[in-house]
Amino acid sequence: MSDDLEILRQDVLSELAGAADMRAWDAVRVGTLGKSGRLTALLKALGKMAPDERKARGGALNRLRDDLTRAIESRGQELEAAALEARLVAERVDISLPPPGTAQGALHPISRAVEEMTAIFGSMGFSVAEGPDIETDWHNFSALNTPDHHPARTDHDTFYLPPVPGLDVARVLRTQTSGVQIRTMLSQKPPIRVICPGRTYRADHDATHSPMFHQCEGLVVGQGITLGHLKGCLIEFLRVFFDKPDLPVRFRSSYFPFTEPSMEVDIGWSRRTGEIGDGEDWLEVLGSGMIHARVLANCGLDPREWQGFAFGMGVERLTMLKNGIPDLRSFYESDIRWLRHYGSDPLAPALLHEGV
Ligand code: DAH
Repeated sequence: MSDDLEILRQDVLSELAGAADMRAWDAVRVGTLGKSGRLTALLKALGKMAPDERKARGGALNRLRDDLTRAIESRGQELEAAALEARLVAERVDISLPPPGTAQGALHPISRAVEEMTAIFGSMGFSVAEGPDIETDWHNFSALNTPDHHPARTDHDTFYLPPVPGLDVARVLRTQTSGVQIRTMLSQKPPIRVICPGRTYRADHDATHSPMFHQCEGLVVGQGITLGHLKGCLIEFLRVFFDKPDLPVRFRSSYFPFTEPSMEVDIGWSRRTGEIGDGEDWLEVLGSGMIHARVLANCGLDPREWQGFAFGMGVERLTMLKNGIPDLRSFYESDIRWLRHYGSDPLAPALLHEGV
């Protein structure tokens, strides 16, 4: 090979070795093989040579071009791999640590309360069931023994969805999680023990009502289930949730279309001090009852064979009482100071043996 070609080869190889990043590498590539690159210029010059001279030099030049093209490519791959490795090291994230320089996030009190409810009922053998937020009018009302003109439908201030052409069912934003009872009984064979936490919706907005809020439903279906089971289960839940082993609990006769008999459940508190479990006043915390025979029948269960109880509670309401939160609206305002104050450690799950 003639000297000038050997010099060019050595030049390019040492420039490549010295190229520390992709930008420097690209400058070598363009300066060698680009439109006005050094090798390209030599190749172009071939055209002006006499045929036999061109033949000899052409062969050497083509070999050089192949060698340098390969050397450039392989150096490019090396640099690319090194750049990727450097990025991976620089951007490595330890997801078990809070982000540097920022405050650690907190679990919203609603999420925390649902975790606690799940832990408490879980210890009593309940599992969690879910249903859709957009519910059929049938699951939300009719199957729950609430006929078309029943006053409970208007009590709930329901958000109705516009009809869908070709779809023969009326749809609502569910006003209660009770519809999940129906879905569960239709899809599972008893014995059943589930809770159904989730979002619910009513056209209502003030210090104690929000158009979107959360409920947690409970459903137990089996043979020989009595009011005694209902009472034992709810007393146990309330005492653990409020962390008061002797919390007074009162069952008061009430009315719900889907239970018979129906009961409102109250806990003892003091109106004067706001203290739960203390004093001579009562505070309503949830609704409950023995599942109405018609609801069982609507789900294909023979009420002579199967009995059960159900209950439903407002998650915000119980959380407000437990944590002394005065205004329901604050749950949804995303005020960082409020979230820091009432939020809980996301890395510390609700565990019964540690006390929820
Ligand atoms: N769904 C009722 C409400 O929103 C609460 C309720 C009461 C649920 C009694 C129940 C029940 O399952 O048995 O007010």
